[in-house]
Amino acid sequence: MHKRYQDLSKKIEVLKKERQAVILAHNYQLPEVQDVADFRGDSLELSRAAANTNAKVIVFCGVHFMAETASILSPEKLVIMPDVNAGCPMANMITAADVRKLKKEHPEAAVVGYVNTSAEVKAELDYSCTSTNAVTVVNYLKDKKEIIFVPDKYLADYVSKKTGRKLISWNGFCPTHAKILPEDIRRERTFHPFAKVMVHPECLSSVVAMADAVLSTSQMAKFARETEAKEMIVGTEVGLIYRLKKDNPAKEFYPASEAAVCPNMKRTTQEKILWALEELKEEVRVPDDIRLRAKKAIDRMLEIV
Ligand code: 13P
Ligand code: SF4
Repeated sequence: MHKRYQDLSKKIEVLKKERQAVILAHNYQLPEVQDVADFRGDSLELSRAAANTNAKVIVFCGVHFMAETASILSPEKLVIMPDVNAGCPMANMITAADVRKLKKEHPEAAVVGYVNTSAEVKAELDYSCTSTNAVTVVNYLKDKKEIIFVPDKYLADYVSKKTGRKLISWNGFCPTHAKILPEDIRRERTFHPFAKVMVHPECLSSVVAMADAVLSTSQMAKFARETEAKEMIVGTEVGLIYRLKKDNPAKEFYPASEAAVCPNMKRTTQEKILWALEELKEEVRVPDDIRLRAKKAIDRMLEIV
């Protein structure tokens, strides 16, 4: 580790104890941020970690909807983001008013929303889901005639194919995963003919159709550990590769596309984590009226899985 990061890491460690804080980091965070985190994981694991920690302060290294989810589940804790401007463009593609309109158009439908949504949107949902459990949640709703599934059209398409259910979807998508193209998979397969291809369900449907495995980020981490394959082509945000390599030093991981970088996930740095701990900000708090409604959708998801 670079000396600058060693010094900063030590300062973060000391202040974290003083503040009784825990640092949670998403799998796409910068390597030096993952290294100072107490816990790193995918959206579902981070929600659970936020709900179960005894810390007084949660420093959330991820994007805004994730910190909101932590606040929804742990209102008694102070949730802070080292860079509060780290948002998720996909989450911003749908508003609570959009969901209310969909519900009016389909009054009988169950409303399922990806965790990549604002707290206000979650307050309109019946069920939340993550990429790990979206198929399980939709399968659970077998008695429902209609299902609204927002905002990711590619995840909706994947879930629809896996469950055989027609879903009422929305025109949202992840601009980072959309950068991974079928020709990238073809090219990488030519370079690495023995590699397994794993892709995230936020990828284009044409990319998902080419994969050996379609997995959330933590499912990818598990798959990488357990598969006999020694090489993998990784169809998701490139930040995951740091963790994959660290966990599996004897295996090789190739990004499907070097262009798959989420700028929002890269906004958090060690310097900003230290400032956040020093000043105990920026706070992310979801107002109680929205929080209690949004929590119902998350709790229902957690009950199913
Ligand atoms: P997961 O880590 O839950 O697979 O989510 C990926 C993602 O794009 C988060 O913003
Ligand atoms: Fe949002 Fe995509 Fe970035 Fe995840 S990777 S935070 S879905 S823009």
